[in-house]
Amino acid sequence: MALTLQQQRINCQKVLPARDVSSLLEDVRKGLLQTPRKLPAKYFYDDHGSQLFDKICDTKEYYPTRTEDSLLETAASKIIERCKPEHVIELGSGTSRKTRRLLTACEQHCCQVTYWPFDVCEEIVREASEHLVDEYQWLDVNGLVGDYNAGLDHLPRIDGKSLYVFLGGTIGNFEHDDGVAFLSELRKNMSSEDMLLMGADRVKDEGILNAAYNDETGVTAAFNLNLLNVLNREVDADFDSEKFEHHAFFNHDESQIEMHLIATEEQTVKLPVLEEEISFSKGDSILTEISRKFTFFSLSSMLEEAGFCLDEHFSPDNNYFSLVLASPT
Ligand code: SAH
Ligand code: TRP
Repeated sequence: MALTLQQQRINCQKVLPARDVSSLLEDVRKGLLQTPRKLPAKYFYDDHGSQLFDKICDTKEYYPTRTEDSLLETAASKIIERCKPEHVIELGSGTSRKTRRLLTACEQHCCQVTYWPFDVCEEIVREASEHLVDEYQWLDVNGLVGDYNAGLDHLPRIDGKSLYVFLGGTIGNFEHDDGVAFLSELRKNMSSEDMLLMGADRVKDEGILNAAYNDETGVTAAFNLNLLNVLNREVDADFDSEKFEHHAFFNHDESQIEMHLIATEEQTVKLPVLEEEISFSKGDSILTEISRKFTFFSLSSMLEEAGFCLDEHFSPDNNYFSLVLASPT
C-alpha cells in the first residue's frame, strides 16, 4: 500500500539498549520477592496505561500539566529564539501534547526542526507522530522507541543543534543519584551548543500535592492498579486488582510523593514463571513510583551536579512548577 504524504514524514525506530537492563521478570524477582517491595515505573506505560496517564493530565487536581503548558505557551518563543534548534529530542514524550507549544513557536520563527519523540510506549509514539504531521505540514517526525534508562549511546546520530526536552516533572520520578546520573549521561551526549529544557514540580502545600495524586474520579488509582494487569499479562502472574488499593501521599522528609499499591487482605499471588508465590499480609505495600518535589535550590543544584548551567528559569507566580532552560557547562 502506498504511503500518504503525511506518512512519509514519519519514521519510527527502536532504540536498542546500550547496556544490560533487567527484564520485567528480573525486576519482579528483585522487586517483589523481597521487602520493601517496589517496581520500576516504566511498566505503567503499556498502551492502556499511557491512555490513563493522559486522562490524569486532564483531572482537575493534577495541576502540573496545565501549569507547565501555560509556562510553555508564554516561554516557547523565547526558548526557540534563544536556542534556534534544528532538532527537538524529547525524552518520555507520551502524547507530546505540550510539545506543540514549542513546535508552534518553531513555525512562527521559521525554524524547521525535526522532532524526535523518545518513549517506551510504541503505540503512543506512533499515534502522537500521526497527529503531529497532520497539524504541522512542514514537520518530520522520527519516533524512537526504547528505554531511556538503558543508555543513550544507541540513539541515532543527530547532526545539528538540538534542543533536548524532558517535561512533566518526570525527572522527579528518579531518586536523586539516579537523576543526576541520567542528566550527566544526557549531557555527555550533547554538544556544547545543544540545550536542555526540563520541567520539574515544586514543593508546595501538602493538600495540593496529595490531591494531585488522589483525584476524585479515580483515574490515578486506575493507572496505579493497571500495573497489576501488566504483570498478569507479561509474566503470567495472577494478581487480583480488587484486592489492592491505590495509596499516594507526600513524604515530607524525602520531599516526594510516594505511590503504593496496598493489599487490602491477606493473599498469595502466583508467579508460575519463577515458580514462586508472593505472600501479602493485609496492609503490605508495593512502592510503584516516587515523584520528587523540588525547591529552586534543589533543582538548580541537581543541574549543576550533572554538569549543566541554568540559562533561564520560568515559573508561575505561585511557584507551583519550574521550567528550566540549561546548557552543558
Ligand atoms: N512528557 C509527557 C509524559 C510524561 S509521563 C508529559 O509531560 O505529559 C512519562 C512518560 O515517560 C510516559 O510517556 C512514559 O511512557 C515514558 N517513560 C517512562 N519510563 C520510560 C523509560 N524508562 N524510557 C522511555 N520512556 C519512558
Ligand atoms: N511524572 C508524573 C508525576 O510525577 C507521573 C505521575 C503522575 C504518576 N501521576 C501519577 C505516576 C500517578 C504514578 C501514579 O507527576
